[in-house]
Amino acid sequence: MIVVTGSTGRVGGLVARRLERLGHPMRLVVRDAGRAPRVANAEVVVAEYGNPQALAHALREGDRVFMVSLWIGGDVRLDLHRSFVAAAAKAHVAQVVYLSFVNAGPRAIFSHAREHGATEEMLRDSGVPWTSIRNSMYADDIPGWFDPDGVAREPGEDSRMSFSFRPELADVIAAALTQPGHEDTIYNITTPESVSLQELANVATRVTGDTYSYDPISDAEWIERWKAQGRPEWALEAGLTSYEAMRQGEFDVVTDDYEKVTGRKPATIAEIIAALVDEMPLTAARRA
Ligand SMILES: NC(=O)c1ccc[n+]([C@@H]2O[C@H](COP(=O)([O-])OP(=O)(O)OC[C@H]3O[C@@H](n4cnc5c(N)ncnc54)[C@H](OP(=O)(O)O)[C@@H]3O)[C@@H](O)[C@H]2O)c1
Repeated sequence: MIVVTGSTGRVGGLVARRLERLGHPMRLVVRDAGRAPRVANAEVVVAEYGNPQALAHALREGDRVFMVSLWIGGDVRLDLHRSFVAAAAKAHVAQVVYLSFVNAGPRAIFSHAREHGATEEMLRDSGVPWTSIRNSMYADDIPGWFDPDGVAREPGEDSRMSFSFRPELADVIAAALTQPGHEDTIYNITTPESVSLQELANVATRVTGDTYSYDPISDAEWIERWKAQGRPEWALEAGLTSYEAMRQGEFDVVTDDYEKVTGRKPATIAEIIAALVDEMPLTAARRA
């Protein structure tokens, strides 16, 4: 059976719908059964990553499992991931497909990439066949990089980054779960180009017809801003290390892995912004 975690969220929800479209039955492992997506041929089991007893019912021998990474920082995330990997190994599942991050590993500057690296290490040590689907920053979140006035106020200067589009991640996750030969493989699913934040603003301007721009700010200004929003300490560390990682080129990763797995070209950043135009702040403000 194919098992999908995170289906109440965005990537997992898209994976469940891809599997439904492909005609595969699945087991959705959720924290709240009332919020499970309504998809055909799905059974729903309630279990969270920190509950080994519940996971023992949710994961069974021979299952092929999508493991969403959790959006929490530091040891809490690693303990929950460790608990899930241990349950998967104990159940003798056939494969875990894990949602990771580009350049995951112990030497990554970005704190989340170090945590994804540690989770990949857990999978490697577990003996369970696994596939890593590494992503860069979500392309679906590009509208949020710009303030309501169309200005991206971020550190990063002229460093470059690629993005990853959640629907394309879901395509590859569904392929890895349903086709043979994806075990013990790492895929980097990225847009076909990387951009600086100034170039991102230029693309947004060209695609939308509104004026977007980039105003570089210092790390200190950024941290002031996020602290004022009451963000937790791990999110501040993640943010600050992400800008340093960007400056060191950790997010400047472009591959053709999407095309290799699906046979299709990934969407360009311009195509993604066009698809998300209603969410771009200047378009949204004009239409409000
Ligand atoms: N690349 C990027 O730019 C980027 C940005 C943000 C996050 N991420 C990572 O990508 C992951 C997936 O992204 P997304 O947009 O799909 O996130 P999302 O919409 O927030 O979905 C996260 C899913 O994880 C589930 N979950 C949370 N804690 C859990 C636990 N203890 N046990 C079991 N399930 C739990 C949530 O369930 P509930 O609905 O019950 O909460 C939800 O279904 C994130 O979790 C994060 O690790 C990447």
